Amino acid sequence: MTQVPEPDAPEGVDLERPNAARIYDWFLGGDANWAIDREFGERAVQTFPMIKTVARVGRDFLGRGVRYLARNGVEQFLDLGSGVPTVGNVHQVAASVNPNARCVYVDIEPVAVAHSQILLEREGVASRHAVLQGDLRNPSDIWRRALDTGVLDPNRPVGLIMVGVLYFLGPDEPAQQIVRQYLSLLPSGSYFLSSHLTGDGVPTNDAESRERIREQYKESSTPFHLRSRAEFSEFFEGLDLVEPGIAWLPEWHLDEAESKASKRLAPDPTFSGLIGGLGRKP
Ligand SMILES: C[S@@+](CC[C@H](N)C(=O)[O-])C[C@H]1O[C@@H](n2cnc3c(N)ncnc32)[C@H](O)[C@@H]1O
Repeated sequence: MTQVPEPDAPEGVDLERPNAARIYDWFLGGDANWAIDREFGERAVQTFPMIKTVARVGRDFLGRGVRYLARNGVEQFLDLGSGVPTVGNVHQVAASVNPNARCVYVDIEPVAVAHSQILLEREGVASRHAVLQGDLRNPSDIWRRALDTGVLDPNRPVGLIMVGVLYFLGPDEPAQQIVRQYLSLLPSGSYFLSSHLTGDGVPTNDAESRERIREQYKESSTPFHLRSRAEFSEFFEGLDLVEPGIAWLPEWHLDEAESKASKRLAPDPTFSGLIGGLGRKP
């Protein structure tokens, strides 16, 4: 059988262990992943067959949040933990509402950054789009570098996005402080869009599969940590929550562009294990 050659890995890519950015890309049908990520993904599907649907539900929420913000006048976005570009990237969704929207992408994983660079070289505009490799756990450094791109105006509201990423910060990391620091840097009228995996209120009949997935991710370079609804809500302290507040992702502002995945989970949103919210800085 002819083997399809693996793509060259950008410098700094750890191919010894599977990685969340590349596994998520595989779940979503992308090709920025390697055998080690795909093997991991296949096992995850065996353990929890709906995992690809859940990934898509997470991605859909990002699109809905950005569309909501663009329609409500937000013109610039800072997307932290932006991932490998795939269906519905922030700059594309925002541009579908406002062709002048701006976006800075940030991801820690070189593959995600390299693919974003390629996409932006093809369809981006340097004055309105940029990508940085960086660790969101360093807010002042990330904010300074984001401003250095010249893409963002610090005096105008920013849509700060941390979708599907805060659960990579462990229980011993100052996740609340990190979010608060970003928010303190942003002008009034800015928004915070985020989602998180939770164990609160999820179905109990597949608890064992959910636990096995969590154990499996410990083998990757990116284990994840569940937060309760109360812990997740704390990220929005001091912000005005947009209706319906903190909600299961399949329940949050379903709109005309919904994918089959979100529609499929809409009748039983707890199954996704994903909650999210959008808050406005007064
Ligand atoms: C599950 S993907 C989510 C991608 C995208 N936000 C979405 O919702 O479709 C999580 C991404 O966060 C990135 N990530 C994890 N920890 C990070 C950190 N400390 N700083 C920046 N990016 C991080 C991973 O590399 C990965 O690309």
